[in-house]
Amino acid sequence: MGVNENVLKPLDRLASELSAEMEAVNALIRARMSSRHAPRIPEVTAHLIEAGGKRLRPMLTLAAAKLLDYPGAYHIHLAATVEFIHTATLLHDDVVDESRQRRGRPTANLLWDNKSSVLVGDYLFARSFQLMVEPGNLRTLEILANASATIAEGEVLQLTAAQDLKTDESIYLQVIRGKTAALFSAATKVGGVIANAPEQQVEALFDYGDALGIAFQIVDDLLDYGGATETIGKNIGDDFRERKLTLPVIKAVAQADNEERAFWSRCIEKGDQHEGDLEHALTLLSRHGAMDAARADALAWAERAKSALAALPGHPIREMLSDLADFVVSRVA
Ligand code: IPE
Ligand code: IPE
Ligand code: MG
Ligand code: MG
Repeated sequence: MGVNENVLKPLDRLASELSAEMEAVNALIRARMSSRHAPRIPEVTAHLIEAGGKRLRPMLTLAAAKLLDYPGAYHIHLAATVEFIHTATLLHDDVVDESRQRRGRPTANLLWDNKSSVLVGDYLFARSFQLMVEPGNLRTLEILANASATIAEGEVLQLTAAQDLKTDESIYLQVIRGKTAALFSAATKVGGVIANAPEQQVEALFDYGDALGIAFQIVDDLLDYGGATETIGKNIGDDFRERKLTLPVIKAVAQADNEERAFWSRCIEKGDQHEGDLEHALTLLSRHGAMDAARADALAWAERAKSALAALPGHPIREMLSDLADFVVSRVA
């Protein structure tokens, strides 16, 4: 453990607390990401997995299991499963979003092609199912299988909600709860279930993950307008180009006058975008305080996540999870 532990960011504190378990998770991921028959698989997976990533979701599973004194070893499988699901969705997501940068590297769809990303993503999904049955626990299997379906559902819902200025905050919430929060809440919940925690604690873990995931995605959507490519490792402006109705845009559209509405309609509905439009969108977002209002919503979700923790036993990890909720809202990467 580092000497400056108190000054470490919450995510690093959690990583340091869980370093032995996380090493086992990474070893399991490396062992299962390869393929004996198709060399394209390890090429693509290594490119993405070795670029790192925050490993936030597997840490949530490990943290939940440890917080509830789980004595066994299957939390490692569950955590690795969660990261496999995440990685599979990233490969597919970058094809769907036509993204060019991920984790500070060119995306797999750019370096290889869409076909490779889709098929290797499928392979990783299938590997995640092989991993999730290994603990022999029907309930954790059900939670992770359900989450996989919910994520795909969220991505598809987003597809039909994009380019439509009628998309409102409740549809947005449904989208991000599906595409992002479902994996966070499954990650925390399986940690509690494998530890045989009382039902009330399992529910608290679900609620924490759900609210944390929602806060996380709202901030991710803010960073797509206000972040810096160097720190987030992704290109900014992807959501505008893809004509997505994310929370800041929904808030700005709700307050738009006729001229502003015409701008949003041209860029988002018609997809007729020109040089300088992204900058103008940013001006409108700030004119209506839409970024601040979205950040305030993220903060409220982080508070909800923290209150869910009250049902869990007092433990240093519980405090780290609480700090993590604050961190997720203040993050710049
Ligand atoms: C990216 O998630 C996908 C979203 C839900 C926004 P992360 O920001 O956790 O991605 P990595 O794993 O750290 O790269
Ligand atoms: C990511 O959504 C959610 C999933 C991968 C399922 P985004 O498309 O908003 O995330 P980034 O910005 O590409 O990471
Ligand atoms: Mg994307
Ligand atoms: Mg996407």
